[in-house]
Order: sequence, then structure tokens, then C-alpha cells
Amino acid sequence: MLTRRTPSLLNVVYRPALFWDGRESTLEAQALSPLLGPAEHGFVTPEALMDALRDHPSLRASVATACDVKTGEIRVDHVQRALAAYERSLVSGNAPADRYLYGQENGALSAQAQRGLALFRGRAGCSACHTLGDRTALYTDNAYHPGPSPIPNSVLSRLQELASRVTELRQRGADAELTALVSQNTDIAALGRYVATLDPADIGRFRTPSLRNVAVNAPYFHDGKVAALDEAIDAELYARHDARTPIVLTTNERADLKAFLEALTSPGDPALGPDDTM
Ligand code: HEC
Repeated sequence: MLTRRTPSLLNVVYRPALFWDGRESTLEAQALSPLLGPAEHGFVTPEALMDALRDHPSLRASVATACDVKTGEIRVDHVQRALAAYERSLVSGNAPADRYLYGQENGALSAQAQRGLALFRGRAGCSACHTLGDRTALYTDNAYHPGPSPIPNSVLSRLQELASRVTELRQRGADAELTALVSQNTDIAALGRYVATLDPADIGRFRTPSLRNVAVNAPYFHDGKVAALDEAIDAELYARHDARTPIVLTTNERADLKAFLEALTSPGDPALGPDDTM
């Protein structure tokens, strides 16, 4: 059990920053932290990881091929590069919404999902953060915003103490320790983007997740506390509603919005890679 919901890796190639707080920017650098993380794979040192790899000739062969080196020359950074190369191949697209928006296939979306799209871009204001482009859509602005759940009292009451713990680790450049802390300490995890920037305005802000495949990606939000898509939509409508720009939707309109989100599911098993899904 870690503090956050595991983010999907689909289309991670298009993500400029990783983790819910964006504290890592390259897949190569990120790949090492779960291998060394005590609550994840738990290799004590990179050398321990390389020792373990020696018992897996076929794995060594594929790392060597991916990085164009001899098996005897494999270093830990080759392992990182090979993992990153694989992750970059996990591309999904060609969902009904893509065919409708970018493939001139008017029949790809039901009338209900089309009404949902109009709400998504219009009155419900979702596309302000879950953005759609002129030619493609990632459904994220890759920016950081407050989510629907309030910052827990256990965090607010000792903010100073938590913040100085994070600041101390950042100043020492202790990235691995910080990652271990974020993945195991719920209160530190709730600080969100702050951990990456040390800017108090970023406390409780999280990266906008893409909504691609959202209907098959439950549970929702950084803490995975919301189990169903209807509930996630309701939470978002409530969170994004304010007195100046109220969002009032009927039950039918909520169903329309959900129908549109369901049309963001790509066909096939995206884990098979782009050739099999596109
Ligand atoms: C101000 C920016 C913003 C707007 C506007 C916005 N969202 Fe979000 N959305 C976010 C962020 C940030 C999260 C992640 C929050 C968290 O995990 O605490 C999120 C999470 C979600 C999730 C959960 C996805 C997942 O994988 O966990 C859904 C579903 C969602 N939004 C739908 C919507 C819908 C529908 C609308 C329009 C009513 C909307 N959002 C409007 C920023 C926004």
C-alpha cells in the first residue's frame, strides 16, 4: 500500500512531468526510484539490482539490444533507458471521440456523447484543464490545480513541521529519501505539488490527469478515494463550481457528460502497443 493511486502509463511519452506532483521530469530518472524504493521493489543499492539481473539472461539480452551494448557492458543507466523505451511505446488513441473530433467520422459519437462533448467544452468548463487541441487531445493541461478533496486537518495542523521536513530533504538533494517519504507518508503526499516547488501556493495541488481511458481507470483522483466514474464527475462538478461561474447540470446532462467520457476509451488492449491498437 502506497499513499497514492498508481497513475496510468498510457501516453506517458507526452507527459512533460511525472508523478501526481510532477517532481520528476524524465522516464529514465524515474525508473530507478521504484526499483530502489523500500516500499516498492526494494533493491538496497543499484549494485544489488545489477546482481539480480545477472540471474536473468534473457532480460539482460533485451536490455543490451534496447541500448545497443554488449551484455557484459550493461550498467544501471541502461536498465533505466530500456524501461523508459518500453514505457514510451505505451501509446493509446483512436477512441470514438478522436474519430469524431479529428477523423471526420460523424457517426463515431452517439447523440448523447455529442451533447456531453458540448457540455465538456462549454457550460461545464472541463476543457479549461482537460484540454483538447485542434488536431489531437491529451485531455490535460499538464498543470497543477487543487482537487476536489480538501487538504486534511492532520496536514493543516502541522504544516510548518511537514514543510520543513520536505525543505530539508530538498536542500540536501536527497531525492530518493523524498520519494520514499511521499510514497509512505500520507500527510507528506497530501502536500502535492509543494514537494516539487516548495511554493506554499502549491500545497494540495495535483497534476491534471488525462481523461483518456478514464472509464476503465477506476478508482479516481490522486488518493484513489472515489470508486465510480459518476461520483468522480459529481465531485469535479462540485469542485469546479463557484458563485461567479456556477455549473448547474440536470441529471440528463450529467449522463451526457459521462457518455462523452466513456467515448474516450481506446479500442483493444493498449498495453499491446500502438501497432495493435491504432
Ligand atoms: C481547474 C482545472 C480542472 C477543471 C476545470 C476540471 N478538472 Fe478534472 N481534474 C483536475 C485535476 C487537478 C484533477 C486531479 C485532482 C486530484 O487527484 O486530486 C482532476 C481529476 C479529474 C477526474 C479523475 C481522473 C482520474 O484519473 O483520477 C475526472 C473524472 C475529472 N477530473 C473530470 C472532470 C470533469 C468532468 C470536469 C468538468 C466538469 C473537470 N474534470 C474539470 C483539474 C480540473
